[in-house]
Amino acid sequence: LYRGKSKTVHATDDPDLLWLTFLNDATAFDGAKKAQLDRKGEVNCKINAFIMGKLEAAGVRTHFVRVLSDTEALVRKLAMLPVECVVRNVVAGSMSKRLGIPEGTVLPAPIFEFFYKSDALHDPLINDSHIEVLGWATCDEIARMKALTFRVNDVLKPLFAAAGITLVDYKLEFGNYRGELLLGDELSPDGCRLWDSTTNEKMDKDRFRRDLGNVIEMYIEVAKRLGVPL
Ligand code: ADP
Ligand code: TMP
Ligand code: ASP
Repeated sequence: LYRGKSKTVHATDDPDLLWLTFLNDATAFDGAKKAQLDRKGEVNCKINAFIMGKLEAAGVRTHFVRVLSDTEALVRKLAMLPVECVVRNVVAGSMSKRLGIPEGTVLPAPIFEFFYKSDALHDPLINDSHIEVLGWATCDEIARMKALTFRVNDVLKPLFAAAGITLVDYKLEFGNYRGELLLGDELSPDGCRLWDSTTNEKMDKDRFRRDLGNVIEMYIEVAKRLGVPL
């Protein structure tokens, strides 16, 4: 159905289900920077399956059904909302640049941001008003996306902390399935910032964005610390 920057989306015999393949393609800056990273698809597919399972166990409804292979997952087919939900526990990346606050500044409470999902426009920052007036989601969907994104933080912050990892920030995408808003897409080191709790060493896609090397080695270390079998 679709070839994305890091996954392909396939139809299945069941119109309610999709099959996602996690690729070794690494991209950053909305596709401007590209590389192939051996094992990325497998490591992300397995970390994603583990995290989706933890979220389901904590009562967060997701699209995830089960893994099909090392790099493939079966998911419910969502009508995706064209927005990205970001929560930040520590200042980094675009927020640091936009507001001139040093990376690593710990926030007294998590900050929520919406971005419009458009590579051509470089995923611009937007607010509730843009989303509602432009018809990208309803008022109720906005409220549910925010509540679910914060709830994910309550589950994942302690989960990563127990593995010696600080959950700096992350991006989520949501979509509708039979009248219910579910968490979609993926949760992996591609869409989060993960720092070693003692050294603040980066263990996420910033290693690729910033040419720090050892990208997959660090993704594998994240998996190991979480107890995800590879
Ligand atoms: P991108 O589109 O940003 O390049 P990917 O390579 O990850 O990203 O492609 C996966 C695409 O599938 C994304 O556009 C994402 O919004 C979409 N998607 C993820 N989960 C689902 C789902 N359960 N149902 C429908 N679409 C989904
Ligand atoms: P940012 O600092 O670039 O705004 O990103 C915040 C977090 O969200 C970071 O972990 C990367 C993730 N993110 C994506 O994975 N894809 C996106 O399109 C955006 C906007 C953010
Ligand atoms: N905008 C995000 C990044 O630079 C996602 C992407 O472009 O793939 O990582």
